[in-house]
Amino acid sequence: MLVEKNVPLQALNTFRIVAKAHSLVRIKEVEDIARLLQDPQWGPGPKLVLGGGSNMVLTGDVKPLVLKMEIQGMRLVEETDKHVILEAGAGENWHDFVAWTLNQGYPGLENMAMIPGTAGASPVQNIGAYGVELQDRFDSLDAVDLQTGRLFSLNAAQCAFGYRDSVFKHSSQGASESAAAPLGLKDRAVIVRVRFALPKVWKPVLGYADIEKKMAEHACTQPHPQQLFDWICAIRKAKLPDPNVIGNVGSFFKNPTVTPEQCADIIARDPKLVHYRLDDGSIKLAAGWMIDSCGWKGKSVGQAGVYEKQALVLVNRGAGSDGNGATGGEVMTLAKAIQTSVYERFGILLEPEPVVV
Ligand code: EPU
Repeated sequence: MLVEKNVPLQALNTFRIVAKAHSLVRIKEVEDIARLLQDPQWGPGPKLVLGGGSNMVLTGDVKPLVLKMEIQGMRLVEETDKHVILEAGAGENWHDFVAWTLNQGYPGLENMAMIPGTAGASPVQNIGAYGVELQDRFDSLDAVDLQTGRLFSLNAAQCAFGYRDSVFKHSSQGASESAAAPLGLKDRAVIVRVRFALPKVWKPVLGYADIEKKMAEHACTQPHPQQLFDWICAIRKAKLPDPNVIGNVGSFFKNPTVTPEQCADIIARDPKLVHYRLDDGSIKLAAGWMIDSCGWKGKSVGQAGVYEKQALVLVNRGAGSDGNGATGGEVMTLAKAIQTSVYERFGILLEPEPVVV
């Protein structure tokens, strides 16, 4: 088992923050994890799982052993009456997997095209875009317990998916738990394979203003899957910075949910507040609009900035080559200043989406 020392992480996190891993091991097959756990030097210590590094802010060098997930493989597992079940190794690039499913003739993931990161990280924050969340297409996943080395599977209910949330974002508080409903798996388990159930009868998920604009432009009311995939890619390219050009982790804050009363209270002061009614009666507020309204678009703290075209996205304005760019500290200072001004104006505390390491 090769443990690399002092590994630069700038190319391994999409914010392109300069930091080093004191030690890093590449996990290429499931068995590598069991081998690692049996190793007397590396088995017992703390670990950090790294996928595409697209949802983390590094605030310094990483001391825990970094497990860089590189398990590959994409395959059709089975066909049921209503679904095809497709599987991706944790290390597969998410967008490449989405493109592969379409090339194989299995639509269903196209609205989530171009989300940066790996397939293995996708359930952790229940990724979503343009009306489809991972949980809508999820079948099950395999993970390895980082204490016992045991391989286990979880279905959707066991993953406890929520908006940008799952059992993998929460620590177990030591309370009793059952294998059927683990309380928290943060730092306790590593996802090694994810399976998706794509409906055999495909229906496009439309209804987003950006998609409707494309439909009008192309005079098309029934786009086919590849058409929708291409539109989503174009919409994202126009709105969101490409992490290969400008470091970022997508949306930096979650869109907060409030009661209708709270929403009415804010609207009384800010009539233009962008909001959406959810099925459960609560109201989702557009955090990007609130940040934008506070005048943050284009502002910076050091080399960390607010993206000019989407205020919910923080970016690294550094050149992107080794030794340059924003520090995690600058990103967090900017994030805190944004939280403060949004709180002072709207009474809402924005919650960051990425994991701060
Ligand atoms: N808005 C502004 N100013 C801004 C940004 C947004 O006024 O600077 C307004 C927009 O005009 C729009 C509303 O806010 O009326 C919502 O903006 P947008 O449609 O761009 O979506 P979002 O709520 O900012 C969410 C997801 C994205 C996902 C898009 C599309 C979260 C935290 N973000 O963004 O996901 O791609 O919807 O479905 O839920 C991500 O999670 O990393 C991500 C990119």
